[in-house]
Amino acid sequence: MTKIQRILEYFQKKGLRRYLTRDDLIQLFVLGQNVPENGYILEIGSGTGWSTVAFGVASKAPERNIRLISIDPFESYLDEYDTLKEGWKGDYKLFKENISAFGLKVESILKKSSEAVGDIQDYSLDLLFIDGCHTYSVVRADILQYRSKVKADGTLCGHDYWATHPGVVKAVNEIFGRDRIRVLGTSVWVVKQV
Ligand SMILES: C[S@@+](CC[C@H](N)C(=O)[O-])C[C@H]1O[C@@H](n2cnc3c(N)ncnc32)[C@H](O)[C@@H]1O
Repeated sequence: MTKIQRILEYFQKKGLRRYLTRDDLIQLFVLGQNVPENGYILEIGSGTGWSTVAFGVASKAPERNIRLISIDPFESYLDEYDTLKEGWKGDYKLFKENISAFGLKVESILKKSSEAVGDIQDYSLDLLFIDGCHTYSVVRADILQYRSKVKADGTLCGHDYWATHPGVVKAVNEIFGRDRIRVLGTSVWVVKQV
């Protein structure tokens, strides 16, 4: 069984809502594999941990001394896509359980991204993945507040660049210009130089 299949099976068996298509999961895997030894991965918005596990397993975080950091308050919030009927109820315990099942350790910052900006040093990140709240204003703020945290040769990327999330598309296009964006898989947006 491939590592990607193992991740899919694990989360599916638990009946957890899937936020990533298989294609997106594969793309996150490739991005994770490209993180150098002793590197630093930050994710804004971890949910139940699909993407965190993808980055951690792909980068071989424990063996290659890669720091995995998650910024997520695990509180209910209103998101554009769900517009929202019920709101997301985060479950930090479940997130940790899922991470541990893959032998990974994550440094969790249990804050909203807007409150955690000062916790991350400028030009320190090899990979930043933005997948927190998907409203236009929050995605815009996440990019503007965190882009300087990424190293000059690092990768800034995020999720849900597609029609179901017009706020993401608008914010990303406005800030970078459509020509600078690569869309991988179904909806992973990537900007190489920030
Ligand atoms: C779509 S889920 C993330 C899915 C996850 N990246 C994955 O692929 O499995 C969005 C997450 O963003 C978190 N979130 C919502 N608003 C946030 C904010 N302002 N700052 C940081 N995280 C936020 C939610 O708690 C939720 O866990």
